[in-house]
Amino acid sequence: MQPSSDILDRILVLEMVRVTEAAAIAAARLIGRGDEKAADAAAVEAMRAALNELPMDGTVVIGEGERDEAPMLFIGEKVGSEIGTGPKIDIALDPLEGTTITAKAGPNALAVLAVAEEGNLLNAPDVYMDKIAVGPGYSAGIISLEKSPSENVLAVAKEKGVSPGEIIVCVLDRPRHEKLIAELRELGCGIMLIPDGDVAGVIATTNPDTTIDIYMGSGGAPEGVLAAAALRCVGGQFKGRLLFRNDDERLRARKWGIEDLDKIYDLEELAKGDCIFAATGVTHGSLLAGVKRSRDGKLTTESVVMRASSGTVRWVKSEHGAR
Ligand code: FBP
Repeated sequence: MQPSSDILDRILVLEMVRVTEAAAIAAARLIGRGDEKAADAAAVEAMRAALNELPMDGTVVIGEGERDEAPMLFIGEKVGSEIGTGPKIDIALDPLEGTTITAKAGPNALAVLAVAEEGNLLNAPDVYMDKIAVGPGYSAGIISLEKSPSENVLAVAKEKGVSPGEIIVCVLDRPRHEKLIAELRELGCGIMLIPDGDVAGVIATTNPDTTIDIYMGSGGAPEGVLAAAALRCVGGQFKGRLLFRNDDERLRARKWGIEDLDKIYDLEELAKGDCIFAATGVTHGSLLAGVKRSRDGKLTTESVVMRASSGTVRWVKSEHGAR
């Protein structure tokens, strides 16, 4: 078991849920309104205000973008009510993971964050990451980005004691995944194509109710770090490799201190030591129900908060007064 961090002990685990709840509630007002930017902006503002109430010296290491691109929650922004004096915490966040989903009222939009002691979360640049993940219970090293998709499926099927045709793989529905999908179809796998939201897609591998065995394909690198933090808490395996489309992206990575651009990252390299992951559902999904408003104006949210050192997973259903 991971030793618990004294610094994280000072940040109340449940306080993290307040932060993701605030973002989810703000974004929920814009579900199905066709305005991704407005939904994202509402979530960002609410998450920032909630973070600023926490007694910590927090630094956003994964956020809305670089300082010149994002007015709030940019990478490097300091948050918390004890900047300079409180515990030094690094924060990876996505106030609205699934902006398009929210705009279209689709499933699995989340407000998410992960916190760890300073220096423990990879400062991932905003580039793509090739990802593969499985839930807990498989032998170490069963998945690898150096193996082909077919080899990975065959290995997982063998250990699960089923034929490859019984394996369900979750993949983002993107033209860039055409080859991957064709290879998986050849094996006869079930493919769950998701429109967006690969943090939820990766976490789904840890929940047998989703029937998803493996997550494969490329998505945002920041989302990869968030998903890795969640898997550090609940178990499972994850490998990620940054993908660069041009020199500008390579430069970005170097700027964040990444020297080996071809490195394949393991869970522990993306989120080290003790960490806390929290998420609140914005729209209904496989992990969490979305924000619901009752006829009297009360809101109900569903969240999960987990911690790597203890392996504790808390499911939090909250009722919020009419607003
Ligand atoms: P946003 O919430 O920022 O829109 O991200 C949604 C998402 O689907 C992520 O879950 C995923 O990692 C990424 O976008 C994939 O990027 P792209 O849409 O460019 O394929």
